[in-house]
Amino acid sequence: MTKTAIVTGSSGLIGSEAVGFLDERGWRVLGVDNNMRRDFFGEDGDTTWVLERLRAGTQRFDHHDLDVRDRDGILRLFREARPDLIFHCAAQPSHDLAAARPFDDFEVNALATLNLLEAARAVCPESPFVFMSTNKVYGDAPNELALVELETRFDYADPAYADGIDETLRVDASMHSLFGASKLAADVLVQEYGRYFGMPTVCFRGGCLTGAHHAGAELHGFLAYLARAVREGIPYRIYGYRGKQVRDNIHSLDVCSAIMAFAEEPRSGAVYNLGGGRANSVSMLEAIARFEELYGRRLDYELLDEPRRGDHVCYISDLGRFRADYPAWELRLGLDEIVAEFAATPVAR
Ligand SMILES: NC(=O)c1ccc[n+]([C@@H]2O[C@H](COP(=O)([O-])OP(=O)(O)OC[C@H]3O[C@@H](n4cnc5c(N)ncnc54)[C@H](O)[C@@H]3O)[C@@H](O)[C@H]2O)c1
Repeated sequence: MTKTAIVTGSSGLIGSEAVGFLDERGWRVLGVDNNMRRDFFGEDGDTTWVLERLRAGTQRFDHHDLDVRDRDGILRLFREARPDLIFHCAAQPSHDLAAARPFDDFEVNALATLNLLEAARAVCPESPFVFMSTNKVYGDAPNELALVELETRFDYADPAYADGIDETLRVDASMHSLFGASKLAADVLVQEYGRYFGMPTVCFRGGCLTGAHHAGAELHGFLAYLARAVREGIPYRIYGYRGKQVRDNIHSLDVCSAIMAFAEEPRSGAVYNLGGGRANSVSMLEAIARFEELYGRRLDYELLDEPRRGDHVCYISDLGRFRADYPAWELRLGLDEIVAEFAATPVAR
């Protein structure tokens, strides 16, 4: 029998990858996205082209122009669809925007997650509920780790962190930004529906999730926006840390395979860090050098002294817990492939 998934944020980077991924595997996919990314980021964030691509390239995809904050609408959709899997990726994803629009941020990130959890509890409590959380739930606690400054990047001084940061890092008593705080509220709620109600829920605390289909905007989508800035000659600003801040990058396809691994063998109230790990880590300066080489042109950039408030200096996800629970899962796309994909993918807008 055909299985049904509800994917929220289905026109976004991760949601759209998940739609294609599930569709290819024979699922019926109901996408929920109201193109709020355009409202958040303006023209650059418009995802209409993604929706058109999905409609043209899938077999069993139905789009719902529904706001995840619409509690009744969400419950109605769950009642009609009775989903076998919920993949919640709709979000307000930017720190800076959260400070400017705190109510929108909290209602989209936290309250809407509660709408979805309650709808799932009422209609399909046995169906895996996957939430895309973020490493920002740790606030700036990662910045307390001792670092060494190398020529092009910072790195952890303590070899105990060679594999990166695991899920035992504390989530409170640090600065999160309002975005990190609203995502943490949602993360704890998702855990609680697993622990308290026994539902098969999981939080994936993402590092930098990426892919050539990201509608990169200056405020969100680091590699995608950087690729665009180099390609189109857009002046670029680096906020602090001498450009040596480190991020680990995971391709959206590898995120999807992790989700499927969980959906096939779910647990209750699970929490995993999910990023590219050390192998896929890159500093801002290193990423610029890669794209400059790829496109054969220099980036016009400015190094500002002031970092973004609470921004991580060096964040690498330790994937050990997920790998231990799902040993068959593997990271397929390395940094070279990720970067090369940007060059190979025609710009759709
Ligand atoms: N991209 C990253 O680097 C990254 C890192 C860590 C965590 N995450 C998390 O992963 C998830 C997916 O991220 P992404 O990069 O695909 O984001 P994205 O901005 O590309 O996609 C989010 C989608 O949600 C939609 N949306 C926003 N508000 C909505 C609403 N009220 N109702 C319906 N749809 C709405 C937007 O229109 C957009 O298409 C988010 O929860 C994000 O916090 C992303």
